[in-house]
Amino acid sequence: MTALVVAMDGPSGSGKSSASRGVARALGLRYLDTGAMYRAITWWMLQCGVDLADPAAVSGRVTEPVIGIATDPEAPGVTVDGVDVSAEIRTHEVTSAVSAVSAVPEVRVRLVGEQRAIIGEGDIVVEGRDIGTVVAPGAAVKVYLTASPEARARRRNAELTGTTVEAQQTEMARRDTLDSTRKADPLVMAADAVELDTTELNLEEVVSEVLRLVKERN
Ligand code: DC
Repeated sequence: MTALVVAMDGPSGSGKSSASRGVARALGLRYLDTGAMYRAITWWMLQCGVDLADPAAVSGRVTEPVIGIATDPEAPGVTVDGVDVSAEIRTHEVTSAVSAVSAVPEVRVRLVGEQRAIIGEGDIVVEGRDIGTVVAPGAAVKVYLTASPEARARRRNAELTGTTVEAQQTEMARRDTLDSTRKADPLVMAADAVELDTTELNLEEVVSEVLRLVKERN
């Protein structure tokens, strides 16, 4: 039997991160947050003053920062050039800039290569936007999480301060449009993924539904 890869894709606020960590914990698997890698590169570009509106400026520097990512579901974290930036990558500044950076093909080529190397032989839960379609198309289990725009904005709002649910909803809609209409590896559900609407589900229910799929498909 080949080692297990569970691909968890979907837009922000769909409950991917908590569910992915919960599934990894329950099954004793590693956990990879690919969004954290895109955020880390974005943070570094902002620190360096790179013009993010200029894809050539972004791609010209894409190989410079060294990104380190932990795969322990109990202690996920990300470093840039050895510095822990796990908190810094969650700021509003990074969140509003990350879609532009992740649309640059050279950024994706670099990070997809690193993600595949980390996935290696498997035994891992991987969350992102293009895991089932591009990064790990051979994954045994592919889940595409969705939730109503209101539920997604409410969840994000509970994690942040200084914003409103309405403002969150507008910002998420902007990011969704950018992420799903970009040319390189857009956010799209894989043909063989199972769609899971989490609007009415709590975390425990989402995790047990994914565990059921793993059992069924493996
Ligand atoms: O999951 P997140 O919100 O932390 O992801 C941040 C951004 O990174 C998201 O807006 C799009 C991008 N991303 C991507 O393009 N591909 C992935 N596999 C993961 C994230």
